[in-house]
Amino acid sequence: PNTMEEKMYRPNFHFTPKKGWMNDPNGMFFANGYYHLFYQYYPDKSVWGPMHWGHAISKDLVKWEEQPIAIYPDNDKYIFSGSAVVDVNNTSGLKKGENAPIIAIYTLHDMTKEKEGKIDVEQQDIAFSNDNGFTWQKFEEGNPVVKNPGIRDFRDPKVTWDETHKQWIMVLAAQDRAHFYKSSNLKKWEFLSEFGKNIGAHGGVWECPDFFQIEVEGTKETKWVLIQNLNPGGPNGGSGVQYFVGDFDGKTFTLDPDFAKRLENEKAVWADYGKDNYAGVTWNNVPASDGRRLFIGWMSNWEYAQQVPTTSWRSSTTIARELQLVKNGTYYNLVSQPVKELDNYVSKTIKTADLKGSGDLVLVKEGVADLSQTIISLDLKKLKQENYTLKLSNADGETLSFGLNNKENYLFVDRSKAGKNDFSDKFAATVSKAFLNGNQKEASFKFILDKTSIEIFYNNGEKVMTEIFFLEKPFSKLSISSKEKIEINNFKIQELNFSKSH
Ligand code: FRU
Repeated sequence: PNTMEEKMYRPNFHFTPKKGWMNDPNGMFFANGYYHLFYQYYPDKSVWGPMHWGHAISKDLVKWEEQPIAIYPDNDKYIFSGSAVVDVNNTSGLKKGENAPIIAIYTLHDMTKEKEGKIDVEQQDIAFSNDNGFTWQKFEEGNPVVKNPGIRDFRDPKVTWDETHKQWIMVLAAQDRAHFYKSSNLKKWEFLSEFGKNIGAHGGVWECPDFFQIEVEGTKETKWVLIQNLNPGGPNGGSGVQYFVGDFDGKTFTLDPDFAKRLENEKAVWADYGKDNYAGVTWNNVPASDGRRLFIGWMSNWEYAQQVPTTSWRSSTTIARELQLVKNGTYYNLVSQPVKELDNYVSKTIKTADLKGSGDLVLVKEGVADLSQTIISLDLKKLKQENYTLKLSNADGETLSFGLNNKENYLFVDRSKAGKNDFSDKFAATVSKAFLNGNQKEASFKFILDKTSIEIFYNNGEKVMTEIFFLEKPFSKLSISSKEKIEINNFKIQELNFSKSH
């Protein structure tokens, strides 16, 4: 292995495969004490190629252990993205032995047909596991379970149990629409409806949908959320996680009228406004006693994913996040927070007295904290219509700038000076922005730092921005600058340590 890139670019705690190429997270479920994560994987090169399902497991969604490859392609028939469910009642009849069968549903993508310019290159197949998700067998005698209906882009099935209507439901991406299907046995699927015409962003194809019922925070009311990843056409270029809030009657997904109003203003709504969170979907079969809706994304963007400066592996996942649906007046918002399990790795907390001042204020001096495995939080009070810029930097002058432009009402991340970016002209060409609803009186930032990434959770996850970068030297200093006098409260540095066991 290349020691420079291992040292500088291998994340301390975000999941990366030891070698090879990774893109979308796939088929996540919880069973028998483990969170399973599969992913689009090509073991032989660090660029996209014949797709496998790679596999990793975790007991706490933070520390991941890579497993043997779960599903292999047959020659030119690649295993594209999809999902998996624990078939608790053996509706599929695929149970053999003691354990509930686990059924993976994925897109089989036929490269030969693609090269021939055919339309019907994608179909939905299943594979099953009788050992709680560790080894898999393709359902040869019954595949495909959904044939191609004459749509070129027809992929990424997400299956879940719909407890309200007592049925399995599948949502998949059909060009730039979501198609819904139902089943009683995971093997025969019936088309139900289509969603998406003239709604939301359509800058590219819709990919990797997710569909789940979720309680509106603090109420007993439930809504359905449709996640519909999109590439290109994301909020700051390239790939992005779009979502919709609505209702589902067992057949048709209808936009909630209040969410429709939000869409009229914003055109599209995103679960993350940074450039590096794509193909994110949620876990199936999280125990009811836990009740969380857990999400993970691919921390990259198709604009440059295959050019980033690592050679032995490429890409990592985001931190696992809990999603909540919050309603404020008529405003629905999908809020994300890092999973609470991350707090178990806090080894040292540094708190600083409240600070006031203007100009450049140093928050973390050289040598005070390890800024490559850290959670930092701070609140800014008494904000003016001003620019508030946080700067992470090192002795070489590499600087990542982010913060709040409270004149034009947006959050921003600027990585144009944060190390290497010449591998792609898309990587640092623009400053990423997330527009806010008007002027902010106060602002709270929490951000997670690893060697090559920042995940910013603004106002408790009301807006999120995730971005990657590639430094020559780790960041060693944090400062904030503003023209007007500023008050910084609740400043906290939490250093993380992943060497102890949990
Ligand atoms: C999204 C995607 C999916 C597809 C997979 C192929 O990143 O394009 O639509 O199934 O990647 O690797």
